[in-house]
Amino acid sequence: MTDDTLYPVPDAWARHARIDAAKRTALYDAAAADPTRFWLDQAQRLDWLVPPTVADESSFDEGDFGIRWFGDGRLNVAVNCTDRHLASRGGDTALIWEPDDPAGTPRRFTFLELHQHVCRFANVLKDQGVAKGDRVTIYMPMIPEAAFAVLACARIGAIHSVVFGGFSPEALAGRIIDCDSKLVVTADIGRRGGKTIPLKANVDAAAERAPSLETVIVVRTAHDVVPMTSRDIWYDEATALVSDSCPAEPMDAEDPLFILYTSGSTGKPKGVLHTSGGYLLWAALTHEWCFDQRPGDIWWCAADIGWVTGHTYILYGPLANGITTVMYEGLPNWPDASRIWQVIDRHKVTTVFTAPTALRALMKDGDDFVNATDRSSLRLLGTVGEPINPEAWRWYHAVVGEGRCPIIDTWWQTETGGAMIAPMPGATSLKPGSATLPLPGIVPQLVDEKGAVLDGATEGNLVITRSWPGQMRTVWGDHDRFFQTYFTTYPGKYFTGDGCRRDADGYYWITGRVDDVINVSGHRMGTAEVESALVLHPKVAEAAVVGMPHDVKGQGIYAYVTLNAGEAASDDLRQTLRSWVRTEIGPIATPDAIQFAPGLPKTRSGKIMRRILRKIAEGDTSSLGDTSTLADPAVVDDLVANRVA
Ligand code: WTA
Repeated sequence: MTDDTLYPVPDAWARHARIDAAKRTALYDAAAADPTRFWLDQAQRLDWLVPPTVADESSFDEGDFGIRWFGDGRLNVAVNCTDRHLASRGGDTALIWEPDDPAGTPRRFTFLELHQHVCRFANVLKDQGVAKGDRVTIYMPMIPEAAFAVLACARIGAIHSVVFGGFSPEALAGRIIDCDSKLVVTADIGRRGGKTIPLKANVDAAAERAPSLETVIVVRTAHDVVPMTSRDIWYDEATALVSDSCPAEPMDAEDPLFILYTSGSTGKPKGVLHTSGGYLLWAALTHEWCFDQRPGDIWWCAADIGWVTGHTYILYGPLANGITTVMYEGLPNWPDASRIWQVIDRHKVTTVFTAPTALRALMKDGDDFVNATDRSSLRLLGTVGEPINPEAWRWYHAVVGEGRCPIIDTWWQTETGGAMIAPMPGATSLKPGSATLPLPGIVPQLVDEKGAVLDGATEGNLVITRSWPGQMRTVWGDHDRFFQTYFTTYPGKYFTGDGCRRDADGYYWITGRVDDVINVSGHRMGTAEVESALVLHPKVAEAAVVGMPHDVKGQGIYAYVTLNAGEAASDDLRQTLRSWVRTEIGPIATPDAIQFAPGLPKTRSGKIMRRILRKIAEGDTSSLGDTSTLADPAVVDDLVANRVA
């Protein structure tokens, strides 16, 4: 799986990059020598109403636990993304929107136009009574209005909670209730891969379970009229009545910017909270460090704004840096596997940033779909979301980039706000499958199960020992859960949940999650969430879910299901359970394999031994390890015999 071939920095990059090897060393040195000075210097890239005089005031220790950056600074995030560019480049393109349908018409917005749209959306929100600190749920397709809504919240100090448009009404309702949001922004329908998604109808269904919901703003995208209720407002009607200027709310650096729900090992998804100053700095800084973007570049992050990648690298990072950002409504391989490359040609994209799962799917369809396109505008290729297998890396490099574009593999998490371990194109030699080296100011460690620090070339669990500006601040409504989840496994350190190898050159190779989180197509899914959905079905007594290797998705979902007494296993029931989970959570949570199991391997104290279930799902049944502590070792034989291939 590993490939130690070194890809040196191409000459052109070494000569022209903003950060070359010497400058990168200087950044590391400065960050180590005087962190406060270093971070306050970096913070100057933002426009502050009141510049901060303090940097890191965080502690990972139980006694004085808390994450706090630039505590006395004041700024507005939306002002940093639009207003401050108006004088110098108000007429430059800020946002290019590419529709799902290749025959459709792209939309373009200058920084001035973006600014006006954001102000209008902000005024509509204000007219609905939204004020600083209120939570606004955004359940949108990938259309420009989604960007306007997000930035409008930032402008007036409302906290946005974007919920991926692929989530079910049930999942949406849970997220509305958790942060007690009274207003949802949605669209009549969404479009993806030629199919429509009934977003407004989903919101109606969610509203039945979420009584706090008072208002729904509906963006019209189709001619067909969706049924409206007394809660609903058409955005086009509301926006016609408001002005295109709106004062920006002055915010403390530590005022919340957004909540984003993400899956963990246990329980319900948690609301990861990011704040204004530190998050925006980390978004902008990492976007520049890793991607060396400059005015004139056309940047395309092919994620969905429902995930953190979309927040940081479709919107906040590039817009804060004044870079043109592309937003694409559809799928990379629809109508066919050339589509992603055609979009690059159409808009002369200079950097594309996508996920290994997309690359593996495109690779399967063969090189002809790539070779049929030009791609000469590309100078950099990015990847994120899961470990990239060296084969996909080499294909991306050789076929897509024709050998001339460095691959920027960025390791990070919803919790980290932006990239943490990643190359700088003008300074870092690359190895296929390695996210390379920590960014300046980031201090990772590898530790063993007991927390002992492992030095040199080694493999262990990845922790971060010092705070950084983009670190999440809390779990919405449950600060104790934040502390318990991330800072108690290895006291005094932030535990990422990832396993990792470090080679003799100090390069980091993420090996995947070591907790009960599965990474399906670069999307995080908690095994506990899928299990709770399964046991809600009246025929299911018990369920245990683990990850299994999957060619395209990276990991697939393997579910062991014990039925209630008297219920018969069948292929029909398997299908029923699959669609049951889709309805409860969303298509991304659909189990790839369901094995009916009369019993699950449990210890005498009743704990399910997932290690064994993982091995069976992986097809690795020769080394199941010690099963003598099981209450009934015979269940293992049955599981092995009836494994679903
Ligand atoms: C995984 C996505 C290897 C990792 C930004 C992490 C990666 C989880 C990479 C976070 C990468 C993300 N190489 N693994 N370049 N990027 N991961 O919160 O397991 O959706 O913990 O954030 O994805 O997923 P999340």
